[in-house]
Amino acid sequence: MLEARDLTVVHGSTAVVDGVSLTLPEGPYGLGLIGESGSGKTTVARCLSGLVTPTHGTVLFRGENVNGEDVSGEDVSGKDVSGVRRSDAYRRAVQIVVQDTEGALDPRMRVGTVITEVLRAHRMVPRGTERGRVTELLADVGLSAEHAARFPHQLSGGQRQRAAIARALAVRPRFLILDEPTSALDTTVQARILGLLNTLRTEHRLSLLLISHDLAVVEQLCRYVVVLHRGRAVEEGPLTDVLRKPRHPATRNLRDAVPRISP
Ligand SMILES: Nc1ncnc2c1ncn2[C@@H]1O[C@H](COP(=O)(O)OP(=O)(O)OP(=O)(O)O)[C@@H](O)[C@H]1O
Ligand SMILES: [Mg+2]
Repeated sequence: MLEARDLTVVHGSTAVVDGVSLTLPEGPYGLGLIGESGSGKTTVARCLSGLVTPTHGTVLFRGENVNGEDVSGEDVSGKDVSGVRRSDAYRRAVQIVVQDTEGALDPRMRVGTVITEVLRAHRMVPRGTERGRVTELLADVGLSAEHAARFPHQLSGGQRQRAAIARALAVRPRFLILDEPTSALDTTVQARILGLLNTLRTEHRLSLLLISHDLAVVEQLCRYVVVLHRGRAVEEGPLTDVLRKPRHPATRNLRDAVPRISP
């Protein structure tokens, strides 16, 4: 499993993430991380995927501190008995997919090239067989082999998001962190992407952390939810309970912003 323990990230004099703990069990699973803009969701996601080192606290991947030091104080960043750097296993296992508008795909590279580079960097398939694997990955997300030759700007927003998911799947992750994956899409396309993620979760036994400010989106994929407010986890539990009896005003505000969900 993937676990954040007491994560704190300080920028300047502000703790933008303040003592957040959460656990993602092995999949299939779905945890929602919700909160207003600036509450620290992306920062937590970046800590979990190793892109940001927390000021305090730890991220544990299958019990190992991913920032190098074991909770017991021992350095575990070295090689394990099989000679594989543990951090490589972690880097493959945890993938992040961000909002399309944040330039998730390199605009200068064809979709097939992007995925091929990932396959090569992580030695996922024997050299020379990448093309077939790219086609399979694109099929997994509902794109055709022909899309491999396109540049990102030659795809629709929904197709670009599918391509970004295919790239994440290329390394056979166990945990997929989705940071506002459908916020840039209209509701019909959003619903299709959420349906796709639901299918992929089952087929690939993925554990999803779905970040959104939209409870209706989280409701599609997650039974459990953590609510962030000014860097703190102010509420957590089964989504239905949290919606029915929100204890924190921040949760009430999020809920009331979505007319489709009534208590
Ligand atoms: N590198 C940084 N340097 C300084 N401040 C930062 C940095 N990264 C994030 N912040 C601040 O931390 C706070 C939390 O940012 P974060 O991106 O995690 O919020 P968020 O919940 O993802 O918001 P949104 O819903 O708008 O995406 C914000 O006030 C942001 O300005
Ligand atoms: Mg964010």
